[in-house]
Amino acid sequence: MTNADLEKIVDTSDEWIASRTGIRERRIANGMVTSDLAVIAATNALEMSGTAKDEIEMIILGTVTPDYRLPSAACVVQQKMGLNNAAAFDVVAACTGFINALSIASSYIENGNIKKALVIGVEKLSTFTNFKDRNTCVIFGDGAGAVVVSAEEGDRGIINSFIKSDGRYLKLLWSEVGGAANPYSESFDFNGTDKIMMNGSDIFKIAVKEMSNATLKVINDAGLTVDDISIVVPHQANIRIIESLAKRIKISMDKVFLNIAKYGNTSAASVPLALDEANREGRIKDGDYVVMVAFGGGLIWGATLVKW
Ligand code: ACO
Repeated sequence: MTNADLEKIVDTSDEWIASRTGIRERRIANGMVTSDLAVIAATNALEMSGTAKDEIEMIILGTVTPDYRLPSAACVVQQKMGLNNAAAFDVVAACTGFINALSIASSYIENGNIKKALVIGVEKLSTFTNFKDRNTCVIFGDGAGAVVVSAEEGDRGIINSFIKSDGRYLKLLWSEVGGAANPYSESFDFNGTDKIMMNGSDIFKIAVKEMSNATLKVINDAGLTVDDISIVVPHQANIRIIESLAKRIKISMDKVFLNIAKYGNTSAASVPLALDEANREGRIKDGDYVVMVAFGGGLIWGATLVKW
C-alpha cells in the first residue's frame, strides 16, 4: 500500500508522510494471518541456518497481533511447522517484542537449558489499524522476520541485552477495547478504541532518549565504544527518530540501517526484517559488532549487542 493509496482513504499526502516519517509504502498481508507470515520467515530461517525441525527446543514469538486470544501464535506456528520438540510461547512487547524474545532465548542458551531457539518477530497490524485515523494508519505495516539462535563455542554471538519498560506511559499507545477490562459488546460503538491509538509526539521524545540510552548501555557494558560498532539496526518507527538517535549517540547515518521507506513500522517484525536485509545486502561482516535497538507501546524499549 503506497502513500498515494492512503491519500484516497484519509486526508493526507505523500509529501507529509514521507517528510514526517520516511515511509513511502507498507505491506498489507491480505488473505493471510499472523502465523502464516511467521511460518514463512521461520521456514527461511531454519533453511538458511541448516537447522532440522527437531533441533528447535524453544519458539519465542514477539507479537501484539496473534491469530487468537488463546492459544499463543507461537503454538500455532509450532503446529503448522511440526516443531514438536519445542516449548512455544509469545512475548507481548509491542515493537520491542523481538529484542525481548531474543534476550530470553539468549538466557536459556547461556544457562545451558537449551541449544537452539527459534525467535520470531511478526505482526499483522493492518487488522488493528484504524484506517479512519490519519495519525496512525499511515505508519503501520505487516511483516515477519525470524532467526535461529544456537549454542556455539567462541566469542561470537549475543554479547549482552538490555530491556526496560515504563507502564506509567501505557495510554500513549494502546487499544482500549477488546481485552478483559473492556470486552467486546455487540451494542457498543467502538469508534476506533479497539484499534491502535497513539500519542505520536509524546512517544517520539521518549523514544529518542531511551533508544539512545539503551544503545549506549549495551555498548558500554561490553567495554566498547560507539566507534567499535559497525552497524546499528534500529526499530523502523520514524526516520526522524532514527536520525535523532544517531545524532545523540554520535554515529554516522552510514552505519545505521534503514528500510522504513518500504515497510513502515512493522512493530515486532521491524528489527528482524531490517537485520535480514542488512545481512543479505552484505552490510554485516563476520566479527562486526551489531546493535539492534527498539522502542514501543508499554512504553517499552531494549537493545542487543551482537558480535556477528
Ligand atoms: N497526514 C497529514 N497530516 C497529519 C497526519 C497525516 N497522516 N497525521 C497527523 N497530521 C497532522 C496532525 O493532525 C497535526 O496537525 P495540527 O498541527 O493541525 O494539529 C500535524 O500533522 C502535526 O502532528 P504531530 O502529531 O505533532 O506530528 P509529528 O511530527 O509528531 O509526527 C508521528 C507524527 C509521525 C506519529 C510521530 O510523532 C512519530 O513517529 N511518533 C512516534 C511513533 C512511535 O514510535 N510509536 C512507537 C512504536 S509503535 C508500536 O509500539 C506498535
